Amino acid sequence: MPFDKFNSRLVYHMNININRFSNNGIQTGFIKHISNLYIVGEQGTSLISNTRILFELIINSQKIFSIIFEPMKQNDPLGNALEDYLNGNTSGKIIVKSSIAEDSGIPVDYLFRSEANMPELEKKALQLCYGNVLDVGAAAGCHALILKNNGLNVQPIDISEKAIQVMKNRGLKSARQADYFELKNEKYDTLLFLMNGIGICGELTNLGDFFRKAMDLLKPDGQILLDSSDIIYMFEVEDGSVEIDLNAGYYGEVEYQMQYGACNGEKFHWLFIDFETLNTYATRNGFSCELILEGEHFDYLARLKKV
Ligand SMILES: C[S@@+](CC[C@H](N)C(=O)[O-])C[C@H]1O[C@@H](n2cnc3c(N)ncnc32)[C@H](O)[C@@H]1O
Repeated sequence: MPFDKFNSRLVYHMNININRFSNNGIQTGFIKHISNLYIVGEQGTSLISNTRILFELIINSQKIFSIIFEPMKQNDPLGNALEDYLNGNTSGKIIVKSSIAEDSGIPVDYLFRSEANMPELEKKALQLCYGNVLDVGAAAGCHALILKNNGLNVQPIDISEKAIQVMKNRGLKSARQADYFELKNEKYDTLLFLMNGIGICGELTNLGDFFRKAMDLLKPDGQILLDSSDIIYMFEVEDGSVEIDLNAGYYGEVEYQMQYGACNGEKFHWLFIDFETLNTYATRNGFSCELILEGEHFDYLARLKKV
């Protein structure tokens, strides 16, 4: 199997049931454990994402064995936190460990914020949305709910299965578990990435994929709305100068790990990007990039359009 072509974010694990038949002369046995089963196809793996797949070997109308592939259960602190909140535990905190700062906490209720409690950048982004809106990394659906109530057609997506359940329970019935980078054959007027949603790129090197996907998903007059921050201030030392390790890649590429109660997530990379760097990559990839609004803390809202 061409493992080198493996290009999926979902890992499958499998349950194997082997039905023994005493008279059919076929040797059967039990496979105890198979890890990292890679399914590779010319078009990637998106067609089978989130699907339960059943293979059966049937000989002379007798089932010899069946194999079931299921998406691996996610170790998902954020999803657990959202689910807990909806079940009435509204005081929880997600602990965030990062490569650039002391541990910090996100109060879970922030993910359920109302429009009145949103930063100005987010309120402005919501005002600028038009047409069919794809809300990427929608989490609890706080932005999608407002857009829906304003009469827009919104499609919230998230990779977290529990986030999707939470959104459905909050009335966002179209919420769908999906990875932005694997979407196909869909068209939108607005792609919305809020709370530093472009962070899903992880590293600058993934911006090419990000823009190629946006090019494909956007209608001709479509727009990307995103907020991010220039986190250079995190590298300031006492005398006010900035100390950056020039051998360590772009300073906005941060390693994170989240924890909620006993649930420890995997480490992941999250990208913060300053406006000039975003502008450079956008131009290189066929997009214009406009600074719409600056926040109070090195954050900004940008609108990008196909040139
Ligand atoms: C910082 S949270 C933002 C939540 C929400 N937009 C808000 O403002 O409250 C980022 C979200 O992106 C989701 N996510 C991460 N990678 C993703 C991807 N490749 N495609 C879709 N969603 C993704 C995470 O599961 C998480 O819910």
